[in-house]
Formats: sequence, C-alpha cells, structure tokens
Amino acid sequence: MLDTPPHTSRTTAPTPSEDMSDQQKPAIHLSFSDKYTDTHSQEYFQKHNEKKLSDRMEHRMAARALALAGNPASVLDLPCGTGRFWSMLAENPQRELLAADYSEAMLEVARKVRDPAVVRRFRLLQCSAFEITLPDDSVDCIFSIRLMHHIGESANRLAMLQEFRRVTRDTVVLSLWVDGNYKAWRRRRLEQKRQQNGEKSDNRFIVQRAQFERECRDAGFEIVGHLDFLPRLFMWRTYVLRKKAV
Ligand SMILES: C[S@@+](CC[C@H](N)C(=O)[O-])C[C@H]1O[C@@H](n2cnc3c(N)ncnc32)[C@H](O)[C@@H]1O
Repeated sequence: MLDTPPHTSRTTAPTPSEDMSDQQKPAIHLSFSDKYTDTHSQEYFQKHNEKKLSDRMEHRMAARALALAGNPASVLDLPCGTGRFWSMLAENPQRELLAADYSEAMLEVARKVRDPAVVRRFRLLQCSAFEITLPDDSVDCIFSIRLMHHIGESANRLAMLQEFRRVTRDTVVLSLWVDGNYKAWRRRRLEQKRQQNGEKSDNRFIVQRAQFERECRDAGFEIVGHLDFLPRLFMWRTYVLRKKAV
C-alpha cells in the first residue's frame, strides 16, 4: 500500500507488492492507467528504443512545439513515462525540470535507464494528470506527450485540460490523435470491425480536430498553433496552447 495520501506526491520507489488501492485512486480514474505495470513499463522502454526513426521525428516535433511555446524556462513532463524526452528537455542547462507519471513502475524505469546526470535535473512526482500534486501556476509549460489519445470522453478531456490550466503559468504542449488523415480513416474501419466481432477497444481514441479545439477554448486556452507528424497521413498532432487571461 502507498504510504502517502492520494493528493500528495511521492518520490521514493514502492516495493513490488505496492499498488494503488481504490480509496487512493483519484476521482477520475481510467482503466488504461493500470496497465503500466513493471513488465509493461520495461516493454514500453524497449519498444520505443527500437523505433529509432519515428522516435527521432517525434522528438523533432516536440522540440519545434517547445520553440512555439517560447522555449519555456520551467517544464513539467506529464506523463513522463520512461523519460523518453528528458535529454531533449534538459538541453537547456538553465531550465527548471519536473516530471510526473501515475505509474511508479514507469518512473522507476526512467530513473534506471536515463543518464544519471539528466535524472538529477528532474524533480519527480507520482500523481495523476487529473490531480497534479503541485500548487497553481507552478510551471511555465506542461509537456504532455501521448496521454490525451487515451481519453475517450469529452468531459474527462475537459477535466484534464482544466487541471493543466491550473498548474501552468503560461503554455501546454500536448499530443493526441486527430481525424482528417489516412490513418484515422483506416483506424475507424478497424474499430468498426472490432465492434462487429464483439472485440474490446484498446483504449486509444481519435478526436475530431474541431471538437478538441472547442474543448481547449472551453478550458480557458487559446491555440497558439499545431504541428502534424506527417500531415494528411498520420494521426499524431501536437498542439501548443496558451492560458487565456481571466
Ligand atoms: C503512452 S505512455 C507516454 C509516456 C511518455 N509521455 C512518452 O511519450 O514516452 C502513457 C503514460 O501515461 C501514464 N498515465 C496513465 N494514466 C495517467 C494519469 N491519469 N495521469 C498521469 N499519467 C498517466 C502511464 O503511466 C504512461 O507512462
């Protein structure tokens, strides 16, 4: 059992038997969040370590998005996963760095596999993106890669965006799957087949661009811009959002 209440962060590793009890789970808890076990976290690291070209392209897209966000002086990487972007985020020696993930197993892999000098630059937190254990206006930018495409319900995306708005002073960089491209068309067909065969969804969702942009505005952001992985072909889009003054 975790020895910290649900709304506090922990920076120490749990024993392998430790897990979140139902009482400790945040108010919005999605089932996909529980899949990042020790084994899955190792596999996630291996898988992305092998995908050299797409990984390099994703890093390039993320770096361009950060530039569009004005090269923020402090960044919270959430969810940081196995720390895939840490070296890139740490290239600026002055930048204040924080990283958070719901899965302690992912954080543990990140601590082990990344350059110790880079790991030391980060303040690590274990928390949910729906309940970030930081005060209001804590960082210049929240950097959120490959989380939003797991959130199928508009109300949940809105709740997460509102929590991001609370914690960032200025911008959010986030990636998700959008419609309007070949891969999205293919995936929709695949999902229809899955439904017909009574198979379960894999908890990854395509969002209509217009709908997501509306949600961003409803959460109190303006859209600075977006970058597509490969326009009209791939589903990955990275948005740069700026907090609107109240
Ligand atoms: C697809 S991975 C992306 C990790 C990293 N950003 C990357 O691109 O390598 C999704 C991550 O989201 C984390 N996660 C799942 N639910 C979460 C939640 N509610 N709050 C914060 N992180 C969550 C998982 O533990 C996992 O590390």
